[in-house]
Amino acid sequence: MRVLGLETSCDETGLAIYDSELGLLGQVLYSQIALHEEYGGVVPELASRDHIRKLIPLLEQLLADCQCDRQSLDAVAYTRGPGLMGALMTGALFGRALAFALGVPAIGVHHMEGHLLAPLLSKDAPDFPFVALLVSGGHTQLLLAEGIGQYTLLGESIDDAAGEAFDKVAKMLSLPYPGGPQIARLAEKGDPKAFNLPRPMLHQGLDFSFSGMKTAVLVQYDKIRGQGREADLAASFQEAMIDTLVKKCLKALTQTGQKRLVIAGGVSANTLLRQRLEQELKRIRARVHYAEPALCTDNGAMIAFAGWQRLKAGQQDGLAVTTTPRWSLEELPPV
Ligand code: KG4
Ligand code: ZN
Repeated sequence: MRVLGLETSCDETGLAIYDSELGLLGQVLYSQIALHEEYGGVVPELASRDHIRKLIPLLEQLLADCQCDRQSLDAVAYTRGPGLMGALMTGALFGRALAFALGVPAIGVHHMEGHLLAPLLSKDAPDFPFVALLVSGGHTQLLLAEGIGQYTLLGESIDDAAGEAFDKVAKMLSLPYPGGPQIARLAEKGDPKAFNLPRPMLHQGLDFSFSGMKTAVLVQYDKIRGQGREADLAASFQEAMIDTLVKKCLKALTQTGQKRLVIAGGVSANTLLRQRLEQELKRIRARVHYAEPALCTDNGAMIAFAGWQRLKAGQQDGLAVTTTPRWSLEELPPV
């Protein structure tokens, strides 16, 4: 079965074709970063309009890259939520209409399930059950995943998401959006022990809080302005963030008795986070799994793959398009 995946939940237009026999045939991605740059964040209406402009040309390019035609598509999967309502509508309506025209099934995919399952596309795919850390620009969640659609929330951020904290700290330091990779790069030249930043809620269950950490960075930054110590501050912030994420992951593994951890979402592309988890999990004879960096941030491949998991079990959506800006992973039906 050949599934076209469409991702338009935020500021990336991502399309991919997943073939159940051959694997990922190809993917194309258009990032709107430059479009939103001058506003310092994503402008929803501009995002929607740009998705509309890019969807058809990107589909043509993808089909040409994969050397296949529309008629060879057996299904269409599109991101149904969570995300920006207008942006979601563009991909969902385009995908639903295309599937109708081709006479093939369509399915609306949960964006975070897409992230969560992306590591299953790697050579070293983990088996269920596992603990999952979802760390993106909009979500920070720890889950127990016992199968597709069988997710139990163990903990989540009570304020900012991890990626959002990276982006806000980057903005403070006048680094461009998205801030995660920028902070990581700057941190390479800094001392992670230079500033002792708080690790909020470290000893309180499996929830997270990052807004205090962000404020602490601001307080320190005010003290060192003009001293050229931004790299030290970036390194110390990244250290506090990783330390917190790693400790919560270890706690979740102990609490659930699991030996497999999957990290997914944009922040899981962070090299130091991956390295630290590898070291720490080895000690307790557990393993960490993640997707290749290009599949950690938003992309169409994860949507095609997650869609296929449900389509092959006979699930599909009707003709009505119902996008949803808020959607809990726990509401998903099991496969
Ligand atoms: O999953 P994603 O592409 O989009 C959402 O669904 O939100 O995640 C984007 C987030 C941004 O906040 C970005 O700064 C962060 O992931 N990010 C990183 C890295 N690469 C992307 N954060 C830390 N280190 C990175 N290398
Ligand atoms: Zn995402």
